[in-house]
Amino acid sequence: PAHSGTCPVSPRAQAFDPFVAPYQADPAAALAWARAEEPVFYSPELGYWVVARYDDIKAVFRDNLTFSPANVLEKITPFSDEATQVLASYNYAMNRTLVNEDEPAHMERRRVLLDHFLPANLAHHEDMVRRLVREKVDGFIATGRADLVEQMLWEVPLTVALHFLGVPEDDMDRLRAFSIAHTVNTWGRPSPEQQVKLAHDVGQFWTFAGEVLERMKQEPDGPGWMHEAIRKNAVDSSVVTDSYLHSMMMAIIVAAHETTAHAAANAVKLLLTHREAWEDICADPRLIPNAAEECLRYAGSVVAWRRRTTRAVTLGGVDLPEGANLLIVTASGNHDDGHFAAADDFDIYRGNAVNHLTFGYGSHQCLGKNLARMELRIILEELTRRLPHMQLDPDQVFTYLPNTSFRGPDHLWVTWDVAKNPEADDP
Ligand code: HEM
Repeated sequence: PAHSGTCPVSPRAQAFDPFVAPYQADPAAALAWARAEEPVFYSPELGYWVVARYDDIKAVFRDNLTFSPANVLEKITPFSDEATQVLASYNYAMNRTLVNEDEPAHMERRRVLLDHFLPANLAHHEDMVRRLVREKVDGFIATGRADLVEQMLWEVPLTVALHFLGVPEDDMDRLRAFSIAHTVNTWGRPSPEQQVKLAHDVGQFWTFAGEVLERMKQEPDGPGWMHEAIRKNAVDSSVVTDSYLHSMMMAIIVAAHETTAHAAANAVKLLLTHREAWEDICADPRLIPNAAEECLRYAGSVVAWRRRTTRAVTLGGVDLPEGANLLIVTASGNHDDGHFAAADDFDIYRGNAVNHLTFGYGSHQCLGKNLARMELRIILEELTRRLPHMQLDPDQVFTYLPNTSFRGPDHLWVTWDVAKNPEADDP
């Protein structure tokens, strides 16, 4: 309905399908043609306008009144009646959180909930993150081979996230399964049969989030960000509402965990395939923060985000109607030569890597970015120090969960010669 039907759709726009290759293989490369020739195009397959250039994406992020985030957590694939009924049977009511809230409610809530995210208030988590990473490396360093995703990179960010939020650390495996279901539910293209199964998983996640919330409410002085939100809700439920608490409990577990796990897996994979860069950071760990930023630019864990127009507006020379849904492909913006010189080169010394769009931009920019950066830095510091000689297992084929927005390899196998572990000489 948002599409007037009068504007011609080019063959490449017609063919665009973000749920299969080439977008699934490399979203930025898949949109090189759009960056060059058709930077804002309508995708009939998706029912969304796709935005491919850095400046246009930034303009969208900058104006959150014209470009509302209300659609950020909507199902990109509308569900069947059967799946919708299943969700209803769990009283599923995912609603506004922070990330999809309009002004002025959003800023009021963000301000009230900002403290825990400030760098000064994050520093005390550093020891815990390092201890968790070290324990994981201890567990496999003598084996010569590991799937870093399974054996470290998903569990550390999940544990850190739960700790940061003050959520009890039980049912970790269920939480991972729930997160994957939530991602496919929100950003994937499940078949009608998959939708019914997903609806049960997501419904159970919703119930679980509600139960955790009730348990946490019994502990009024509890630690962490969600406890803080619960206390704010108890004082004034008009800013931090009941619906917000339940929706946020579910959304934040995914936002804080999957994003960071994928970012770390993408970074290690990227650095090991650019061996010189890997060796440089092994030799000089001070290069790690900028290298991590370049990894977030080059192969971010969030590759596309959404907005919806609240009025007719022109973007990148294209007239958009009111109510148009936009898929803003941040991964494409991050590879825009107009903003990053030789954007397809991976360069850990790049001066403006930090300008990437992977954390979004403007008033909704990721609140967790400094926690995520700390985790990335510590993971890379520990791996480069203890396993500088590791290599990607050359025989693996990387697989990804098909969806528009969250991206990281399902597995990341690495190997190394145990006899050459630096610790063997210097225990
Ligand atoms: C928002 C990405 C880690 C909490 C966002 C947004 C993106 C994003 C794209 C939307 C930004 C916008 O609309 O401008 C990422 C990536 C991460 C990461 C790539 C890891 C590499 C985290 C972590 C936490 C977190 C670890 C929490 C501990 C949030 C919150 C928001 C948000 C609360 C909503 C902010 C608002 O709307 O005001 N994130 N995120 N994120 N993120 Fe993250």
